[in-house]
Amino acid sequence: MKVTVFSSQPYDERALRQYSPDNINWQFLPQKLDLLSVAAAAGSDAVCVFVNDDLSATVLQKLSELGIFAVALRCAGFNNVDLTAAKKLGVKVMRVPAYSPQAVAEHTVGMMLCLSRKFHKAYNRTRDNNFDLNGLLGFNLYQKTVGLIGTGRIGIATARILRGFGCELLCVDPIENPELQQLGARYVSLSELYQQSDIISLHCPLTPQSQHLINEETLAQMKSGVMLINTSRGALINTKAVIQALKSAKIGYLGLDVYEQEADLFFKDLSDQVISDEVFQRLLTFPNVLITGHQAFFTKEAMAQISQTTIHNLLSFSRQQNSGNEL
Ligand code: NAI
Repeated sequence: MKVTVFSSQPYDERALRQYSPDNINWQFLPQKLDLLSVAAAAGSDAVCVFVNDDLSATVLQKLSELGIFAVALRCAGFNNVDLTAAKKLGVKVMRVPAYSPQAVAEHTVGMMLCLSRKFHKAYNRTRDNNFDLNGLLGFNLYQKTVGLIGTGRIGIATARILRGFGCELLCVDPIENPELQQLGARYVSLSELYQQSDIISLHCPLTPQSQHLINEETLAQMKSGVMLINTSRGALINTKAVIQALKSAKIGYLGLDVYEQEADLFFKDLSDQVISDEVFQRLLTFPNVLITGHQAFFTKEAMAQISQTTIHNLLSFSRQQNSGNEL
C-alpha cells in the first residue's frame, strides 16, 4: 500500500521506517495537509497526519475524490478532524489512543519544576558565570494543592507523580476514576478547583465545550499568583485573557506546550524569521512564562509506540480489518 505522510519530520520517517514491513510504500512530505497540499497524496491508499494537519470537510472531500479512504493519525487528539464529514464520505479515521501518557505527564511535571525553581533562568545565569541567587527564590511543590482538569490517561499519570511530591490533588472530570480516589485525590467542582489550587494543569481534550475553558471569568476565580500548565491543546486557553492575567500577576507562572495558533509556528525552525504573531511574541517577553513547542509527547518510547500503532492501523485497513483504533 502507498501512504503519504504529511507534516513529516526526519524523526517521523526514521521511526516509521524502523517498524514498517516492506509492503508499505511511504511518501514523506514536510508540508502540512490542507486544501493546497492535498493533491500531493494522489495515488496513495492512505494519508498519515499529525496534530496540525487540516482534516476539515473540504479536505476530506478532496481525499475521497482522490480515492483515499483512510486517515491514520499519529496522535491521540482528533480535534482537527471533521468526523461527521469523514463518516458521510466513508473515510476511515484511525488514531493512536495511548502512547506513553507518562511522556506527557513527566513533561508536565518538568514544566512545574522548571517554573517553580526557575531552572530556565539559572541555566542562562551560570553559563555566564553569574552565581547570584537573587531573583531565583522558588517554592516547594510539597503540600501544594494541584488541580487536574481531565483525569484520563495523562491526568492520572501526572497525579501519580505529584503524589510522590506530597501534593494535595483536586480533580475535575465527568468520569471519575476510582484509582485517583485511592491516591487520596478529591473530585470537586470546577469552581472549587479554581479557588483552591496553587497549580492548575489541563489534561482534557479540546471540544466545543472545553474551548477557552480558561478565560477572563475562570481566571478571576483563581488564586493570585497561580501556576497554570497546559500540555493538552492550545485552544483550551484564551491566550489574550491569560496575557492580561500575567500582567496583573493573577497568573504567577505559565507553562505552555501547546498554543492556540501553533499550526503556523510549531515543528519548524523559524529562528531566522520575524514572527508576526504578536500575541505569541508578547507571551515570550514574560520572565515567568515557559513555552515548549508541542514537545511533551516526544520521547523514544512514545515515538516507538506511535509508529507501531500507526502501522498496525494502516495494515488493518489494507486487510479490511478493524484495528480497534477507529474513531
Ligand atoms: P484521555 O481520553 O485518556 O483522557 C481525557 C479525559 O478528559 C477523560 O477522562 C475525559 O472524561 C476528560 N474530559 C473530557 N472533557 C472534559 C472537560 N470538559 N473537563 C474535564 N475533563 C474532561 O486522554 P489523554 O490521553 O489523557 O490525553 C489528554 C489530552 O492530552 C488529549 O486530548 C490531547 O489533547 C493532549 N495530548 C497532548 C500531547 C502533547 O504532546 N502535548 C500528547 C498527547 C495528548
